[in-house]
Order: sequence, then structure tokens, then C-alpha cells
Amino acid sequence: MEKKILCGCHNVTLDDVKAQIELGVRKFKELQDITNIGTDCPPCTEQNEKIFNDLLLNTGN
Ligand code: FES
Repeated sequence: MEKKILCGCHNVTLDDVKAQIELGVRKFKELQDITNIGTDCPPCTEQNEKIFNDLLLNTGN
């Protein structure tokens, strides 16, 4: 599967984020604690918080 990198600083892919949602992560802060996504660049934080929230909405939870 294609690896779409969402956070270059911490090498976090779209699949990594989806996997964490499947494991029960429901807050962006929690995702950051686990993956470090968006913990260094503000634009990355903003963009990925939006992507995370959109993915959450699509899970229907
Ligand atoms: S690219 Fe994600 S924190 Fe820098």
C-alpha cells in the first residue's frame, strides 16, 4: 500500500493514523502522545488535527 506521509518530522503516515483510530484513539492529543504527529511544526499540527477529525467523523463514532 502507498505510504502517505502526514508528518515528515516524525514519519507518521495516513495508515498509522487510521490504525490508531482503529485501536480506539479519539483525541488528537492522544494521537500525538503515541505518534508525536505534529508536535514540532504548527502548520503540521493544524493540518493533521483536521485530517484526524475528518477521519473520526467517517468512522461514525
Ligand atoms: S512535519 Fe509534523 S511536526 Fe513537523
